Amino acid sequence: MPGAHSARMEKVLSYLTDNEAGFIEQLCEYVRFPSVSAQTEKHGKDMNACSEWLLAHCRGIGLQAELHPTAGNPILVARTPRRKGRKHFMVYGHYDVQPPEPFELWKTPPFEPRIAGRSLFGRGASDNKGQNLAHLKAVEAYFKTGTELPVDLTFVIEGEEEVGSRSLAGFLKEQRTALKCDAVVISDTGMPSKKVPALTYALRGITALEIKLIGPPRDLHSGIFGGSVENPAMALCRLLAQLRDSKGRITIPGFYDDVKPLSKFEREQMKRLPYSAEQYRKLLGVPALFGEKGFTHHEQRSARPTLEINGLTSGYQGEGSKTIVPSWASAKITIRLVPNQKPGKIQKLVQAHLKKLCPPTVKIELKGGHGGDPYIVSPTSSLAQASLRALKEGFNAEPIVMREGGSIPIVNDFKKILGVDTLLLGLALPDDNAHSPNEKFDLDCFASGMRMAAFLWQELAGA
Ligand code: BES
Ligand code: MN
Repeated sequence: MPGAHSARMEKVLSYLTDNEAGFIEQLCEYVRFPSVSAQTEKHGKDMNACSEWLLAHCRGIGLQAELHPTAGNPILVARTPRRKGRKHFMVYGHYDVQPPEPFELWKTPPFEPRIAGRSLFGRGASDNKGQNLAHLKAVEAYFKTGTELPVDLTFVIEGEEEVGSRSLAGFLKEQRTALKCDAVVISDTGMPSKKVPALTYALRGITALEIKLIGPPRDLHSGIFGGSVENPAMALCRLLAQLRDSKGRITIPGFYDDVKPLSKFEREQMKRLPYSAEQYRKLLGVPALFGEKGFTHHEQRSARPTLEINGLTSGYQGEGSKTIVPSWASAKITIRLVPNQKPGKIQKLVQAHLKKLCPPTVKIELKGGHGGDPYIVSPTSSLAQASLRALKEGFNAEPIVMREGGSIPIVNDFKKILGVDTLLLGLALPDDNAHSPNEKFDLDCFASGMRMAAFLWQELAGA
């Protein structure tokens, strides 16, 4: 039997259960917008339409909401009235989504939400629309049942998270006073399983770059000229292959210099996480796992840095064969960072190393991209403890604390600009397929997430 809740909370919780079917409908409406921030030409209009939908939705709930135009996509701000003596929290989320490609791997189209069992399929369902909608619904439940919300809230839902939150830091600076708060709450991370909710206390940082190797000024006949001239695609493969050794270590000089070793305590904690290496292998559907020797898969994916090729392009990719030496080859790379690595410093090390490795037979072009610091915060603060209680009440299960491998760079700006910590209360499951085809959101996580969000304000008000 879940703990006895106050009559007030019972009303809020009943509202959430009684209206669940309608909330799922609304999540479908939200997911139907192809709000792909990376594809401005194709989806610029959809970004605006999605933000307008959110605006209307927030106003319908009873929040004071506005859209703030930016050089990129509008930022939605929705608030409860400010009252003296109340704590104020900011809830952050994003309405933009990753590109859905490759389309052919989706069982049903990415922007035509489909429900199967307790899963809602669609790009953005889990990352991050379902998760931020859960928070909005919890507040709706307070408003619509006439229950007093024990804290003041401001929702900030942006449309550029998946492309590096280009406009948000400026907005935070501009709105510093209005956004002054006790902490930020984000549901945009994961939890190990439906029965194990989690408070995330660390995120990896990131630094992105693109590399292009340029050979002949045009594609050449590979029969007439092949063998006598560098092939940029071959050169790029050789170069990239040298960045990691067989033990899974990055070979860039100085790369690990600032990595803060894991404490014994943390390593002990990580051993307690669910998912054996074999279960993890099965989840990923790979023939064998690969990662830095000497670390468990939990450590590798959350507490150790990694360099990944995200995209690799060269030559002819259409049907059949075309016998050419391509004129150029390029790769998109991101490096995930852990405390205390710095994106700027790592970017410099990587670029210098690539230039050194580049053979004289091709020209190299390097373009640094977006970046963000890693994040780590105490999992034992009073706010963290309060969130753990809310997770427990919402999910009726004992929560854990963990590190996550993904990045939400803006949390560092919340700290730098607003001076506050972020509570990461993720609702995504490991098999939600974030950034992959057939992304889904689990409707039990949606329901428990809404309950958790409702309890959260009670717990945080008293913390
Ligand atoms: N929701 C993710 C971040 C995330 C996922 C953190 C899982 C921890 C666990 C977010 O939407 C995301 O994908 N962020 C990008 C940031 C990048 C584009 C700067 C990422 O991690 O790739
Ligand atoms: Mn994402």
